[in-house]
Amino acid sequence: MKKIKETLDYINSKTNNLDAELAIILGSGLGCFCDDLDGIRIKYDEIPHFGESSVKGHKGELLFCEIEGKNCIIMQGRFHYYEGNSLATTTYPIKIFKKLGIKTLFITNAAGATHQKLNVGDIMLMTDHINFMGTNPLIGKNDESLGERFPDMSNCYTKSLQELAKKCANELNIDLKEGVYLATTGPSYETAAEVRAFKMLGADVVGMSSVPEAIVSNYLKINTVGFSTVTNYATGVSENKLNHQEVIDVGKVAGEKLSKLIKLMIKEI
Ligand code: HPA
Repeated sequence: MKKIKETLDYINSKTNNLDAELAIILGSGLGCFCDDLDGIRIKYDEIPHFGESSVKGHKGELLFCEIEGKNCIIMQGRFHYYEGNSLATTTYPIKIFKKLGIKTLFITNAAGATHQKLNVGDIMLMTDHINFMGTNPLIGKNDESLGERFPDMSNCYTKSLQELAKKCANELNIDLKEGVYLATTGPSYETAAEVRAFKMLGADVVGMSSVPEAIVSNYLKINTVGFSTVTNYATGVSENKLNHQEVIDVGKVAGEKLSKLIKLMIKEI
C-alpha cells in the first residue's frame, strides 16, 4: 500500500491529479496508436516501483491523453514475466490504473496462430484464455480491499465490450476474428509438438503476455477487452522459422487496423 501510494503521488504530481476513464496496453508493433496523440508522457523508469521494460520495439512510457473526449492512459510497452519480472510487477500498473479511476482496460498483444483458419495480419478478439504459465498473479496474501480471494472468471473478457468490438469492426469493414489466447511464459517460442497440443486444448493463438493482466483486471472488476494481432503462424503451422523482427513488422500493419477499431470503441463506450 505504501508502494502504491508513492507511485500514485508521483504520477499525480505529473498529471495534476487527472482522473482516467480507461487504459490501453499496447503490444509489439502497436506503437503507431500514439502517433497522432499528444499528452503527458512519463517514462517507466522515473516512476517509483513501476519496473522497466527491456523488449525491442517497446517504448517504456505512459501517455496520458484525451481520445474522443475521454481521459486515457496508454502503456507503450508492458512488463513480461520472461524478462525476469515477478507477476506482481507485471501486473502492478493495472492496480495503479484502477486507483487512477479507470473503468475499462484494453489489452493488446502479438500472437502466433495455431491453425490456418486465422491469417497472418488478422486481428482476433480474445473471447477467453488458457493460462499455461504455470503460475497466477494473484498467488500470495489477498488484499480484500482490492478484490476477492477466488475471483470468478466467467466474464473475464467483458461480454458487452466484445459485442461493441464486433459492432465497431463491422462499421469499419474490419474482418475481426474471434478466439482463445493461450499464454506461455516464453521467451523461447513453442515447439511444433507444443503448438499441436495447444490447438487440441482449444487455443487459437499463443503468446507470452496478457493473461496475467486480464486476471488482475478481472479481479479488480475493471471491464476488460483483449485483442491479438496475428503476426505469424506458430511453430509447425507453416514452414517459416520465427523471428522477433517479423513479429514487429507484421504487428505494425495489423496495428493500424486495430488502432482505428479501438479509437471507435472509445468513442462509443
Ligand atoms: N508464440 C508465442 N508468442 C508469440 C508468437 C508465437 O508464435 N508470435 C508473437 N508472439
